[in-house]
Amino acid sequence: MSVRRLAPKELQPESFAFTEENLAFAKQQIAKYPAGRQASAVIAILWRAQEQNEGWVSEAAIRTVADMLEMPYIRVLEVATFYTMFQLQPVGKKAHIQVCGTTPCRLRGAGDLIEVCQNRINHEPFELSKDGNFSWEEVECLGACVNAPMVLIWKDTYEDLTKESFGKLLDGFASGNPPKPGPQVDRQFSAPVGGPTTLKETT
Ligand code: FES
Repeated sequence: MSVRRLAPKELQPESFAFTEENLAFAKQQIAKYPAGRQASAVIAILWRAQEQNEGWVSEAAIRTVADMLEMPYIRVLEVATFYTMFQLQPVGKKAHIQVCGTTPCRLRGAGDLIEVCQNRINHEPFELSKDGNFSWEEVECLGACVNAPMVLIWKDTYEDLTKESFGKLLDGFASGNPPKPGPQVDRQFSAPVGGPTTLKETT
């Protein structure tokens, strides 16, 4: 895990305001909870702020969300810095790749995926590629260990990766044609590769 801090001042935009559509979404989220419990909507609204802000949450966005939910700024900052789903500095415009580096993924080749990131994007995590389109980081288990190794890009997971299929996946994002999320081999969800192996009898 890395230290999670807000981006330096020079990268922070002055202000943040939701678009009309996203403001309507935020109000809808708040309405889901009883009066006085609007803070429960913080993750959904912060995530929408991140999507609007090219994949990362600025300090201004955190303050805007806090004001909207009548929460102390520090509480929203705590949420943004705790969960690795929130990015705190500018990320690649086409893809920010979160490579799971926990044991099952490590044993199944996460090291190879990290090597691809280092060679194709930037040797260092959180640094942008030369064209600004890609960035990467290593994260802890993302809950898809059964299809290890895997990466998370925005809100989708790509699983059962090899060096080769991961390379193709990056090509896909670069050309605007990412592959279908989920396993990148012949399996349905987390079912065995090649189809069922047990409980095949119908009687
Ligand atoms: S160890 Fe990688 S998803 Fe769980």
